[in-house]
Amino acid sequence: MRIAFTGKPPARLDAIVVAATRPRRLAAAGRDLDARSGGAIARAMAAGRFTGDAEQILDIAAPAGVDVARIVVVGLGTRRAITDLAVETMGGAVVGHLNRVGAKSAAIVVEAWADEKPAAVARRAAKVAFGARLGSYRFDKYKTKQKPTDKPTLERIAVVTPRLAAAKAAFARLDKLADGVFFTRDLVSEPANVIYPESLAARADMLSSVGVDVEELGKGEIEAVGMGALLGVAQGSAREPRVVVMQWNGSPKGIEDPPVAFVGKGVTFDTGGISIKPSGGMEDMKWDMAGSAVVIGLMKALAGRDAPVNAVGVIGLVENMPSGTAQRPGDVVRSMSGQTIEVINTDAEGRLVLADALWYCQTRFKPRAMIDLATLTGAIIVSLGSYKAGLFANNDALARHLAAAGEGVGEALWRMPLGKRYDKDINSDIADMKNVGKNREAGSIAGAVFLQRFVGRTPWAHLDIAGVTWSKSASPTVPKGGTGFGVRLLDRLVADHFER
Ligand code: BES
Ligand code: MN
Ligand code: ZN
Repeated sequence: MRIAFTGKPPARLDAIVVAATRPRRLAAAGRDLDARSGGAIARAMAAGRFTGDAEQILDIAAPAGVDVARIVVVGLGTRRAITDLAVETMGGAVVGHLNRVGAKSAAIVVEAWADEKPAAVARRAAKVAFGARLGSYRFDKYKTKQKPTDKPTLERIAVVTPRLAAAKAAFARLDKLADGVFFTRDLVSEPANVIYPESLAARADMLSSVGVDVEELGKGEIEAVGMGALLGVAQGSAREPRVVVMQWNGSPKGIEDPPVAFVGKGVTFDTGGISIKPSGGMEDMKWDMAGSAVVIGLMKALAGRDAPVNAVGVIGLVENMPSGTAQRPGDVVRSMSGQTIEVINTDAEGRLVLADALWYCQTRFKPRAMIDLATLTGAIIVSLGSYKAGLFANNDALARHLAAAGEGVGEALWRMPLGKRYDKDINSDIADMKNVGKNREAGSIAGAVFLQRFVGRTPWAHLDIAGVTWSKSASPTVPKGGTGFGVRLLDRLVADHFER
């Protein structure tokens, strides 16, 4: 689907889209269309329940008097309550609708409300386009027998706006962000016979083409730096582990400027290991590498939009398999930090991988802040469902900034506690700690306090994204499958708090 910005609608379109606000208010272009079509819009509004509320769509097919196949009116809600996010959602909803009705070409008119500054219109036009692009995402590369009616029809969208240059400039940046989100969604959706540590590292390596410096640590180097916790998880698999380090140095202060760091769990398939999972739903564990995919997509977005920041991404890539070489419950491993871990449950593997990745990142880069992402616990799904991700932090300002960024982009977080009482529960009788907490209590917090033992005074946050990484039902800007949750959120965090 191609997106262009134009000053007026191109000729011969399958659809022209205008917005309405509550109650049933059209702006100039909408009123003009209504007049030219002999009042078709007003009559259609009166004939149904369309009030202009957010997410409502009114489709008028074959209107007389105009040279388009259909007029689509989309609701944005009360004029004063319209947010950037609502506008973005509208863009996605329009794409979904146009694909359902089989339109190939469309214009979306984004015009100024009576009292509005033109600059605000340009931003809104860019957000509509961004939402449209996010909603157009498909992962259908393995479908060889799609019927024409299953395929998206929409080929071209023209966003019609008075402030062309400003709208294009605003969209250019969002377009790069969408590239990052799509890269993440692709990686998360790929099956584990395609994405395994070595091939995932190769995908990350593709970022060198946009100016990211990518380094790969092979098994020998991982051994040499002493990542015994990560290696213990990897040892059951026929696939060798990898650690990938991505650096984007965009800060105007140069490479001396300390980076903001992102660390991702990259378990390319999680069978649970010897503490094996039940077979029902185990296929979901192909997306247990989502944390690492978010870090890769984020680095791509930052580089793509030439962000004035130094950022580093560290991802630990392993496959968690049961086998004759797999680690056993009760094994004791030595992490890179020197701390020893009794592996009570081989299915609590993400924290073992992150322990070494966090330590490595922190000691090597001395980052200003360090944020990890992981599909760490099933318990976070019990706590928060699929609407919000769990946020844990040792720093209140960082937690606030993350939560605000999440609200802003529609990737919501909810802060959960850390603390001594929980930390005590992971003490082990024979090693420095064990990799599970007390019985089944507070499972997500047990994971978080475990990670915290590998973080010093660096401002740090942990995002448990197990519930939000995969969507089973489509929304306007997030189709079914890998969501890319985290890329937009962290891009916003960087833009608002870390750019120089
Ligand atoms: N990858 C899983 C967590 C998960 C579960 C993600 C369901 C997405 C959906 C993780 O490695 C895991 O198995 N965690 C265990 C920890 C337990 C053994 C302490 C869990 O949540 O059951
Ligand atoms: Mn597991
Ligand atoms: Zn896992």
